[in-house]
Amino acid sequence: MKAYRFDSFNSLDDLRLREEANPRPQRGEVLIRIHAVSLNFRDIAMVRGRYPRACRPGFIPVSDAAGEVVETGEGVEAFRVGDRVIGAFHPRWFGGEMPSTILKDSYGAENDGWLCELKAISQEAIVHLPDGLSYEEGATLPCAGHTAWTALTGPVPIRAGHTVLVQGSGGVSVFALQLARAVGACVIATTSSARKAEQLKALGAAEIVNYADDPKWGSSVRALTGGRGVDRVVEVGGPGTIAQSLRAVAPGGEIASIGFLSTENPGIDFFQLKASGANFRNITVGDRASLLELTRAVAATGLKPVIDRVFTFDQAKEAFSHLESGSHFGKIVIRCVS
Ligand SMILES: NC(=O)c1ccc[n+]([C@@H]2O[C@H](COP(=O)([O-])OP(=O)(O)OC[C@H]3O[C@@H](n4cnc5c(N)ncnc54)[C@H](OP(=O)(O)O)[C@@H]3O)[C@@H](O)[C@H]2O)c1
Repeated sequence: MKAYRFDSFNSLDDLRLREEANPRPQRGEVLIRIHAVSLNFRDIAMVRGRYPRACRPGFIPVSDAAGEVVETGEGVEAFRVGDRVIGAFHPRWFGGEMPSTILKDSYGAENDGWLCELKAISQEAIVHLPDGLSYEEGATLPCAGHTAWTALTGPVPIRAGHTVLVQGSGGVSVFALQLARAVGACVIATTSSARKAEQLKALGAAEIVNYADDPKWGSSVRALTGGRGVDRVVEVGGPGTIAQSLRAVAPGGEIASIGFLSTENPGIDFFQLKASGANFRNITVGDRASLLELTRAVAATGLKPVIDRVFTFDQAKEAFSHLESGSHFGKIVIRCVS
């Protein structure tokens, strides 16, 4: 099979295509022909030394994929040849507390990921792809879709009447916008781009604030809620956006801490944190049980993931460059079959 690997994390030229032996499914495993993968910010963060967890070069990159079961190992009962499936971001987090294996399982960083043609994997580490979604669309669910789902559910699930703030127009944020609209919540979105502002409105954002033009965008968001603040912040900016998120959030609301897109790190003011009255929840994508909930929600609502562009397998490097440019809206996908 063909597989990409990062030989080192110095530049995108270290992403090399090679011919490798086809994997064979062991007991309890299935063999998947990978049809599509999607990229996440983490995939470029690793190359640029911005990933906050340990990552070692040499592995097949990319955490998110959709494909078809082409062979089953002994003892596989949950899947059959021909089933359409997606991978779980955390292959061994089935529910409850995060397992101690979570870091070792990190696709592309500590373990082989999915930017290849075939993968043998435990039947417990995949779920069925919802009917009605293409492989390209399904490949966007394991990290971005699942993370947005976790951010909007959790101890206080978002519902009609709540207001959600999403930051920027990347994969997680666009999914959060779509999922929040699906339950009737009001969405306020930030972006640095006038073009993307129109796209966010078309997806149902009630209000847009340009965070590049308005450094105090948190106060502007709060003003748009009549001074009350938002019920949930889908916090993808991290160190450079948290202070404004604390201005935007309502007392008793929640900041779902997800990302680290911003490059500046001015620190957090303890008294601002305390005075906000907000709850803070750290998100690590989610467990298999909630991925299954997401796939049911997608099937029930007919939600269509927003794909910015689909690249061919040969164009993998270009796909990474496009991700790094930040010009995308929603998800970037690589089709792995011709
Ligand atoms: N903890 C977890 O479980 C988890 C899971 C998934 C992702 N993440 C993290 O969440 C973040 C988002 O991931 P992603 O894959 O959705 O990213 P992405 O698709 O690469 O998002 C890119 C977009 O983010 C916006 N952006 C960039 N810098 C920003 C800033 N300082 N403030 C506000 N928006 C900014 C820009 O939108 P505009 O062009 O509209 O301005 C940009 O186009 C990343 O840090 C990622 O590593 C964490």
